[in-house]
Amino acid sequence: MKHVGFTQMKDGSAEDYAFLTEHEVAYTRGTAARLLKALVALDESLSGYQVTRLGHSLQSATRAWRDGADTDWVASALLHDIGDIYAPYNHDEYAATILRPFVREQCTWVVEKHGDFQMVYYGHHVGADPHKRDKYTGHPYFDDCAAFCERWDQASFDPGYDTLPLDHFAPMVEEVFDRTPYDPAVLRKGQREPLVTTPR
Ligand SMILES: [Fe+2]
Ligand SMILES: [Fe+2]
Repeated sequence: MKHVGFTQMKDGSAEDYAFLTEHEVAYTRGTAARLLKALVALDESLSGYQVTRLGHSLQSATRAWRDGADTDWVASALLHDIGDIYAPYNHDEYAATILRPFVREQCTWVVEKHGDFQMVYYGHHVGADPHKRDKYTGHPYFDDCAAFCERWDQASFDPGYDTLPLDHFAPMVEEVFDRTPYDPAVLRKGQREPLVTTPR
């Protein structure tokens, strides 16, 4: 079989769908490689800062890695702004959607809300609510998101910082997207890992 026989999904056979599933599994294995390519594309986005979006992403991941954070955190720091390419108005939700099946719930939540938490640094300059994050007060991951933004996100626009290259992080991204999607042992709902452990 080179392709399915149907032209409308409702007419497909079990063989058609078995054939498609095989293709989907093969395609899914390339997710990490496609994300790494997309990160490079981020290099061309959003000018005006002293670092590119790729530079910012790498710097965030480098700071996470140097803080001794685990692989889920480092991959989340690296990919937290990946949504800038296609979803400039909800880039945080977009990135969280990509990460959700493959990293701890704690990290997905932080990536999803980081846009609201970042407002504390510049909302007052752009007519937005700097206290947007206050609606999450009391949430178990509130402090994690505040620390993520303070240590890794808002701090990572420095062209003089010794940022590690994408190659350094590629194996971590591959490891994360090679996991079984939505594995409860990966999502570890409600469990928190520290952002800062032993500095590397
Ligand atoms: Fe962001
Ligand atoms: Fe960011």
